[in-house]
Amino acid sequence: MALIAILPGDGIGPEVTREARRVLEQVGDFDFEEASVGGAAYRETGHPLPDATLALAKRSDAVLFGAIGDPEFESLERSLRPEAALLGIRKELGLFANLRPAKLFAGLEEASSLRPEIARSIDVMIVRELTGDVYFGEKGQGTTDAGLREGHDLMRYDEAEVARIARVGFETAKRRKGLLCSVDKANVLETSQLWRDVVIEISAEYPDVSLSHMYVDNAAMQLVRDPGQFDVIVTGNLFGDILSDQASMCAGSIGMLPSASLAGEGGLGMYEPIHGSAPDIAGQGKANPCAAILSAAMLLRYSLGMTDAADRIEAAVAKAIADGARTADLGGTLSTGAMADAVLGALA
Ligand code: NAD
Ligand code: IPM
Ligand code: MN
Repeated sequence: MALIAILPGDGIGPEVTREARRVLEQVGDFDFEEASVGGAAYRETGHPLPDATLALAKRSDAVLFGAIGDPEFESLERSLRPEAALLGIRKELGLFANLRPAKLFAGLEEASSLRPEIARSIDVMIVRELTGDVYFGEKGQGTTDAGLREGHDLMRYDEAEVARIARVGFETAKRRKGLLCSVDKANVLETSQLWRDVVIEISAEYPDVSLSHMYVDNAAMQLVRDPGQFDVIVTGNLFGDILSDQASMCAGSIGMLPSASLAGEGGLGMYEPIHGSAPDIAGQGKANPCAAILSAAMLLRYSLGMTDAADRIEAAVAKAIADGARTADLGGTLSTGAMADAVLGALA
């Protein structure tokens, strides 16, 4: 039986993974094991990513991750903060490819920040590089010769890192509409110039995919002007982080966007909503569980090969929404549990 590791984390993480687990239990028989991560783990063990948690993730067939982060820990040294656990687990498991699909579920036009006819057109897969870039370069704070405090984070990619994420972008586009837009800042950044050069080289392997390039500032604008122009976006870690949160509001709410973090063929996968621990609503039963539920569907699809079950869960979320189920972020009044009940009802 497949072992699914659940790492609930902080804030609304446990609230939404609880509901995703109920949905998984309805579509199959799985072994579940939970372990603490982030601020919750720091409180228990003094470290945000305990060895036991990482070991569980490594021996599992797939990982369902909630969210981490708590204002309480913002003054800790960086390696002990909740965020270090998430970055650490991505690095340790080699999860370099982060797939973040943003599409509008019919009925959510009013929840989108865009006009309905524009909102309806969004159906983009953002392929975000996840283990490189300014996130993992040398960083620090110091003092200049003039005695001023300074801070720095090195933005860096090597060609192998770019080539492998580019291939994920091309493969993803091949299975969709065949359009790949590579987003960079090659007009200013050397990292981006290398990125663009390598993406162009790799494109020779994919004659059936149409490749375009866009600067990230323009991409941010185009995403709200005409999101329907995008099929697949491939971009670096930082740009992908920002653009995916932006895309979520085109699609209605950050509470709707799932993600898959993959290590490549045959490797382990981790699945998580793109949102964070939402300290402002944590503990109130207000969080939208759909992003976590849709992440569970991605887990079944990408790690367990359970395509039918994944399709059924996605259809159930669509039906619940079409029937009017809404948490507060979508303009409704349902609690986290009631929203999941609506999905479970649609699944039955
Ligand atoms: P956030 O995504 O946690 O919240 C941003 C806003 O969106 C908040 O108003 C929140 O209430 C709302 N929101 C988020 N998820 C929602 C949901 N499922 N339903 C309804 N509303 C939802 O981002 P933030 O406030 O910038 O960060 C809070 C903490 O989370 C920080 O510690 C940050 O580092 C962390 N974080 C973690 C992850 C992760 O675990 N993958 C992602 C982003 C941020
Ligand atoms: C995300 C989050 C993380 C990121 C943080 C919490 C490290 O924003 O998963 O999108 O920047 O990757
Ligand atoms: Mn983010």
